[in-house]
Amino acid sequence: MGITGMKVDVLLGLQWGDEGKGKVVDVLTPRYDVIARFQGGPNAGHTLEFNNQKHILHNIPSGIFREKTLNIITNGVVLDPIVFKREIETLEAMGIDLTSNLWISKKAHLILPTHRILDAASEAAKGKSKIGSTLKGIGPTYMDKTGRNGLRVGDIDLDFRARYEALRTKHQMLLEMYDFEYTLEEEERFFEGIDIIRRFRRVDTEYELNLLREENKSILAEGAQGTLLDIDFGSYPFVTSSSTICAGACTGMGLAPSAIGEVYGIFKAYCTRVGSGPFPTELTGEEGNLLREIGKEFGSTTGRPRRCGWLDLVSLKYSLMLNGVTQLIMTKTDVLDAFDTIRVATAYSVDGELTDRVPYDQSAEVKPVYTDLQGWKTDLSGVRSKEQFPDQLNEYIRFLEKELQVPIKLIGVGPDREQIIEM
Ligand code: GDP
Ligand code: IMO
Ligand code: MG
Repeated sequence: MGITGMKVDVLLGLQWGDEGKGKVVDVLTPRYDVIARFQGGPNAGHTLEFNNQKHILHNIPSGIFREKTLNIITNGVVLDPIVFKREIETLEAMGIDLTSNLWISKKAHLILPTHRILDAASEAAKGKSKIGSTLKGIGPTYMDKTGRNGLRVGDIDLDFRARYEALRTKHQMLLEMYDFEYTLEEEERFFEGIDIIRRFRRVDTEYELNLLREENKSILAEGAQGTLLDIDFGSYPFVTSSSTICAGACTGMGLAPSAIGEVYGIFKAYCTRVGSGPFPTELTGEEGNLLREIGKEFGSTTGRPRRCGWLDLVSLKYSLMLNGVTQLIMTKTDVLDAFDTIRVATAYSVDGELTDRVPYDQSAEVKPVYTDLQGWKTDLSGVRSKEQFPDQLNEYIRFLEKELQVPIKLIGVGPDREQIIEM
């Protein structure tokens, strides 16, 4: 197994998250039998819009709204039973049958209420240098995973209560080190969530996924966060705690590298970042506010305003290199409709020296070097075919494809399922 069988396609974010992964996975789902989320946890907020309704998913793969699609939460994910229960109840209220089409890896790690408290305590202790975490317990849960203390979904069929209490006690001891007040109120809801998880098929998803490949089922792997938040290659320490790059799909699902097929890299026509950390092309004035307002750039998970700025090809090329992207998807193109001039960073000046590399030193003074392009000043939201594209947009696309050397295959012109154009 592994070398033969269908290739698995991967879709992942090339920036700092929120590139529109949820929407695009939903659009691509009819082409696949299986959608699998391979890393991250409820720090993710993936938005889908159709029939004038907006849905935000945190733990559950974005294929869930299409019938006949199998959705899998794989071993790379960290799962919060409380958030999971809430999501399941919302989906069931919409009449979506989940028990048959959602599987969970036994090897996915569980987020405990005390993981979330530890996250908050750690951030509070950092003061000004805080990461800007979503406070969903992601860091502490992955720490317990790599520290070999974690609880996994498969443990709920073993002496779970005892294991839970041992880990909780350890967390409480750790919390004593912090000057942090907390109450542990959510244990009951946690165990209610565990009971919800019991209703689902809990399997060794690495076996199932490789078997599905053998059966020639088409599989799309859905990433969370983005390459610039990757634990190794993101702007450390202002990153998340998982491997968000394509290689993370292999470890996060139990797939051999040779099993990977297309790699869809998704980026916004500009940039956003939520939380702390370097952002060379950030716009802190009027233009930034305009991008935030038009793009409705407020966090899907936390509601925080997202920092906004121009597209950055230095970091985008870095992301292409790390992921081996074969096809690009550009979203939120419509958000640039109002701008006379559209700027794109093509190099950095770091402490006065020109470079095309992302610097190691997070405190270095990085000034973007821009190329200016003419805006199209046309409402794209109603456009449904590439023939309707204004010339300036065609020029923008040509410019990006020449710089990036990867074709842009899909272009987003609005949040709805219908607002996407195939090139
Ligand atoms: P994800 O985390 O990558 O799934 O992205 P989010 O859902 O957090 O944020 C993307 C936001 O942009 C959501 O509110 C989407 O509904 C919206 N969106 C996605 N694609 C487009 C697009 O092409 N145009 C506009 N205007 N909005 C989009
Ligand atoms: P999706 O999947 C945008 C950011 C946080 C913070 C840093 C660490 O919706 O694109 P964490 O909670 O992981 O400890 O936070 O990473 N972050 C995201 N930013 N989109 C996300 O997910 C994010 N998940 C985490 O804001 O800066
Ligand atoms: Mg998001």
